[in-house]
Amino acid sequence: MKGVILAGGLGTRLYPLTHVTNKHLLPIYNKPMVFYPIQTLVDAGVTEILIVTSGPHVGHFLGVLKNGKELGVTHLEYAYQEKPNGGIADALALAEDFADGDSIAVILGDNTTDAAIKDSVQGFKDGSVVFLKEVPDPQRFGVAVFDKNDSSKIVRIDEKPKQPESNMAVTGLYIYDNKVFDYIRQCDPNFAGRGELEITQVNNFYIEQGKLSWQELKGYWSDAGTFKSLHSASSYWAAKDNA
Ligand code: G1P
Repeated sequence: MKGVILAGGLGTRLYPLTHVTNKHLLPIYNKPMVFYPIQTLVDAGVTEILIVTSGPHVGHFLGVLKNGKELGVTHLEYAYQEKPNGGIADALALAEDFADGDSIAVILGDNTTDAAIKDSVQGFKDGSVVFLKEVPDPQRFGVAVFDKNDSSKIVRIDEKPKQPESNMAVTGLYIYDNKVFDYIRQCDPNFAGRGELEITQVNNFYIEQGKLSWQELKGYWSDAGTFKSLHSASSYWAAKDNA
């Protein structure tokens, strides 16, 4: 399995910080943000990694990560997303050549977790896996809707619903087989009304085929795309380091 980290976008919610550098290079406690998802992949045994990035500061990644050797990466590639607001699925489309027929573990570059995904990666066969986490504010996320007669089954994922049908957020960690690239080609930029190709639509395509499974992410998880979440993620990792 190969790894893909999506580290594009303009990070407008973090202006003026993201005038300085790419959001994913901002510090979370004592490390640039992108180090955390890289570590999650390396810990899972995924050491061939593609970083998809965009925006005005893309050159900074090379200076910070170099060839990734210091982080345990055996092969590091970069791809440039021409439309920084194209969406997560648009960014992921750029990983098709890199994946080269293999399955991929995908992490959004602003998600940090101390959960281990090694067993999920090693046990993966086909289809897709999403990792869910119970949250107090599901309106901010993709939200799982469960079968009323079988609560282990997801029937739909809603992107940022105003009235969420559960409090189980779809975190920014995913495992896909190579069909993901065909599903991305079927995505509609109007799916969630923000003109982006949505990963949630990709996940719904897998659900329609009966090929999406889910696991609860065990441990801490947060995104860090807002000042509040950036600050709380830093506090969590600092407390863990000082424990
Ligand atoms: C994205 C996804 C959403 C997911 C979230 C996790 O949201 O669209 O489904 O729950 O990441 O961080 P965005 O960061 O684009 O608001």
